Amino acid sequence: MHRLAAMSTIALLLVSPEAPAQQAAKGPEHSRALDDVVHGAPPRPTETWLRAAGGRIYDNWWQALDRKPPRGNHPAYPTGGKRSGATTWRCVECHGWDYNGKDGLYGGGERHTGIKGIRAAAGRDLGQIMALLRAAPHGYTPDMIADAELERVAIFVSRGQDDADPYIDIRSGAVKGDTARGAALFQTTCAVCHGFDGRLLNWGTEQDPGFIGTEANAFPHEVLHKIRNSHPGAAMINLRGFPLEDAVDILAYAKTLPTR
Ligand code: HEC
Ligand code: HEC
Repeated sequence: MHRLAAMSTIALLLVSPEAPAQQAAKGPEHSRALDDVVHGAPPRPTETWLRAAGGRIYDNWWQALDRKPPRGNHPAYPTGGKRSGATTWRCVECHGWDYNGKDGLYGGGERHTGIKGIRAAAGRDLGQIMALLRAAPHGYTPDMIADAELERVAIFVSRGQDDADPYIDIRSGAVKGDTARGAALFQTTCAVCHGFDGRLLNWGTEQDPGFIGTEANAFPHEVLHKIRNSHPGAAMINLRGFPLEDAVDILAYAKTLPTR
């Protein structure tokens, strides 16, 4: 299936040089029967589902919600920032995979923006957070993120932020987790889609692959976020309903998987 996906990417390349970027903007493919699970909501959403769904909106709202990617830079994105285009509209682009903005992971490097994190907003009133996201400088319109969806991301901000500080060393990326437990959980959950070695799905290229091992070593906070919330637009499970330590153990094991 991965090989087929690679072949169709090549086919698209032949048709139009813009196709791969469009594919990336659209997100991973899945069967239409799963549209409701991937982009929609259950009739009676639980708090657990809402937190994870909000986490996916934080990651990439248009892929999570199946909207058109926004055009141009977000008006609040600093002119000196190194990123441009749609990605500057992702919450994570300004506030970080550790939710700590300039005071954490994004204190320097390519994704530095000088913008503060969202940790201080944990516990804040949902209505207040939603109002903040509709107003300047955020300016998310209901066409982009509808009210019910905005409430999900507010729930994530207020009640769903995981604190990875006790587990991930922000300087070295070392993870304090039980790799033996992580192996057991990985083999029995993740492997069915990602393969036993995490290389069945490749979101990079042939030369520069993006496997579980690649990403867990390069961006452990991001992988923890994906395990806890799932990948926006992908038919993937999440471990939001289980203790955070389970996700940390999987992350620790993922770091031992091949990076290429
Ligand atoms: C282009 C950059 C950018 C993006 C994208 C962005 N924000 Fe912000 N955010 C800011 C800025 C700037 C502030 C104001 C910081 C300040 O008060 O100095 C802010 C403040 C916040 C705060 C308040 C933090 C506090 O301590 O009071 C929250 C919560 C927040 N943003 C959540 C989000 C969410 C959720 C999204 C995505 C739906 C998002 N932001 C997208 C730039 C951004
Ligand atoms: C039911 C299938 C399925 C299961 C189970 C699953 N995933 Fe995924 N996962 C996917 C798909 C599909 C993608 C999207 C890949 C792409 O973008 O091409 C994905 C993406 C990811 C990504 C991020 C890719 C990116 O672009 O950043 C990570 C990290 C990841 N999965 C980790 C895990 C881990 C760890 C587990 C086990 C807890 C897991 N997945 C379980 C299907 C699954």
